[in-house]
Amino acid sequence: MPNRIYNFSAGPAVLPEPVLEQARDDLLDYHGSGMSVMEMSHRSKPFEAIITNAEASLRRLMAIPADYDVLFLQGGASLQFAMAPMNLYLAGNPIDVIHTGAWTEKAIEEINKVAACTIAGSGEASHFTRLPRPAEITLNPQASYVHICSNNTIFGSQWREFPATGNVPLVADMSSDILSRPVDVARFGLIFAGAQKNIGPAGITLVIVRQELVERAPKSLPAILQYRTFSKNNSLYNTPSTFTIYMVGLVLNWIEQQGGLAGMEAHNQHKANLLYRAIDATDFYSCPVAKEDRSLMNVIIRVNNGDEALEKKFVAEAEAAGLSTLKGHRSVGGLRASIYNAMPAEGVQALVNFMQDFEARYG
Ligand SMILES: Cc1ncc(COP(=O)(O)O)c(C=O)c1O
Repeated sequence: MPNRIYNFSAGPAVLPEPVLEQARDDLLDYHGSGMSVMEMSHRSKPFEAIITNAEASLRRLMAIPADYDVLFLQGGASLQFAMAPMNLYLAGNPIDVIHTGAWTEKAIEEINKVAACTIAGSGEASHFTRLPRPAEITLNPQASYVHICSNNTIFGSQWREFPATGNVPLVADMSSDILSRPVDVARFGLIFAGAQKNIGPAGITLVIVRQELVERAPKSLPAILQYRTFSKNNSLYNTPSTFTIYMVGLVLNWIEQQGGLAGMEAHNQHKANLLYRAIDATDFYSCPVAKEDRSLMNVIIRVNNGDEALEKKFVAEAEAAGLSTLKGHRSVGGLRASIYNAMPAEGVQALVNFMQDFEARYG
């Protein structure tokens, strides 16, 4: 493919090349329909097949139990920060949040507008460079639910062992690591994720929710804010982001061809090992995140103990060398390499080679 660079963006992020090629081939005439998926009714037979197949692939990949609904929503993961408490809050039973960075902060802000919220554990004292340990988390057995963020896109930490919440539903924002490894869906009451990292292009939010929880929502909520509405209408209550759902189907097929989530996990572990090994091999680079909590998806790198001028130079020179979007989030600084499912190992190796070369010139 011409002029493709290695894109380390945190999202919207790199997509698998075979998926882009397939979309290109289908663009003007989808399967002999004489039109693009973008021009097709969401109630048409071909689109019905697209959404049904996408859901079936996801169910196979994640081994989603039969008593869970799969919903394709809009409004981003950000809408879920509000929609989850609106649907799942039981008055008098506060929502527990384990606070691990900027995205749980956003969730807390929204929960506080519609429900009572308790911080059950927090990584704030260590500037979110480590996740709270089980002994540092106090869960309320009466909570409406527990909210976590499985992978902290900005601070570069990722849960390995999810907290045990007993009978209290666990709600996880998996926006930046869904489909990157196998997870036991039955451990969760609800999983949500914006598409634009591991699922497809921006424009849909995936929600996987235990059916019993769908029925918790007060019916007085506006219909479009109730999970129930989308559950009853197979995500076709109103016009969904049809082209995005088509793209999601292609990405899910690609993941199945790569050996499913076990294959993805091995691929992601390999890439992350390459990069963290390169960081740890020298004092010139460092990663502030505790080793056991380091994310396989978003790798934070500081250059020369946080030398901002040198970091700026690194980002500019890397960009010129075809290694794109390595600037860290402004709240953390330094560099951030997002190495989602679709980032090939060759891209990470190219970054490691560049790092060694940069150190040889400026270290
Ligand atoms: C973990 C996490 N949660 C939520 C969001 C917000 O997602 P959206 O922009 O789809 O609302 C992001 C976006 O990067 C994220 O990384």
